Amino acid sequence: MAERNRRLVLAERPTGMVDEQTVRMEEVDAPEPGPGEALARVRYLSIDPTIRTWMDDAPGYLPPIAIDEVVRSGGIVEVVRSNSEKYKPGDLLFGFTGWQEYVVASEATGYQALPDGVAPMLALSLFGITGMTAYFGLIDVGKVKEGDVVVVSGAAGATGSTVGQIAKIKGAAKVIGIAGGPKKCAGIVDELGFDEAIDYKADDVGARLREAAPDGIDLFFDNVGGEILDACLAQLALRGRVVLCGAISGYNDRGTAKGPANYANLIIKRGRMEGFLILDYFDRLDEGRAEVAGWLAEGKIKSSEHIVEGLENAPEALNLLFTGGNTGKVIVQV
Ligand SMILES: NC(=O)c1ccc[n+]([C@@H]2O[C@H](COP(=O)([O-])OP(=O)(O)OC[C@H]3O[C@@H](n4cnc5c(N)ncnc54)[C@H](OP(=O)(O)O)[C@@H]3O)[C@@H](O)[C@H]2O)c1
Repeated sequence: MAERNRRLVLAERPTGMVDEQTVRMEEVDAPEPGPGEALARVRYLSIDPTIRTWMDDAPGYLPPIAIDEVVRSGGIVEVVRSNSEKYKPGDLLFGFTGWQEYVVASEATGYQALPDGVAPMLALSLFGITGMTAYFGLIDVGKVKEGDVVVVSGAAGATGSTVGQIAKIKGAAKVIGIAGGPKKCAGIVDELGFDEAIDYKADDVGARLREAAPDGIDLFFDNVGGEILDACLAQLALRGRVVLCGAISGYNDRGTAKGPANYANLIIKRGRMEGFLILDYFDRLDEGRAEVAGWLAEGKIKSSEHIVEGLENAPEALNLLFTGGNTGKVIVQV
């Protein structure tokens, strides 16, 4: 008898945070794998801020999720039965699973084995999209170098916490994290080795940046955008670099954001501001993973995951990214 597949489809486009109207739970027969394909059960979902952007009917780097379509998401699946020599029951694979319980995995649908010897949680965090975004964004786009004063926003999150640690490993003179609340700020300094933390919910960010980076910011890795980006632009050092990784402060109300008022400081400081997408680094992931594996083995880098149980709680898990209810990589255990 065919397995039943519970899945969350986009019912309505959200106007702010995702709510109970946004998605609808459906139950249908699981898809039947054809020749060369396998049926796989979804075990873990990678919860990423970009999922919220895909829910908007707006141009992006991928098409919007259609109404009644399963919500798009990366995840890890376990092969249940297989018509392919390539897959056997029990194999764990990474791919675009969507918010559902069963998928058909095949080479054509882009499923790949997890990196050798890496556990599923780490495969989604440090060795996954967020860890590799931190790695290539900081090293390849930001060109971090010894002696840099580095600032990172979203510093207690999955990407930001990794950025700060890699900056220290690469010899930054000072790493300053911007995060929300005293607990997150203490955590990035005491547990992850950041030099200073700025609590954007309590502090005057501009004033704190002038104190913490009196000679300016050499490299700002931005996950947030909005006022935090503006404050960092104002404190840029000569030839300072700004890496635009994300702009989460605007994802819930895109179209209303104002441009940064202090962008003209890029001219005065002969600065550079550059956006990037990890998609462009997919052919180099092995390189990043090999270096991160070395740091992990030497105890130089830590990863944390925030686990939410149950497919039905995926919308709530997504919202954690916007309320700041997470520390580290948000993963749904299906
Ligand atoms: N360019 C790429 O290819 C790429 C790839 C992956 C991720 N990203 C981007 O990287 C960023 C981080 O993603 P992630 O998956 O690692 O998520 P995350 O940092 O683990 O979680 C998001 C964090 O953002 C902070 N935040 C939310 N709204 C905010 C606001 N209005 N102002 C300030 N901070 C706010 C919250 O922390 P607080 O408690 O500190 O507020 C929250 O914990 C996102 O912008 C994402 O889109 C880009």
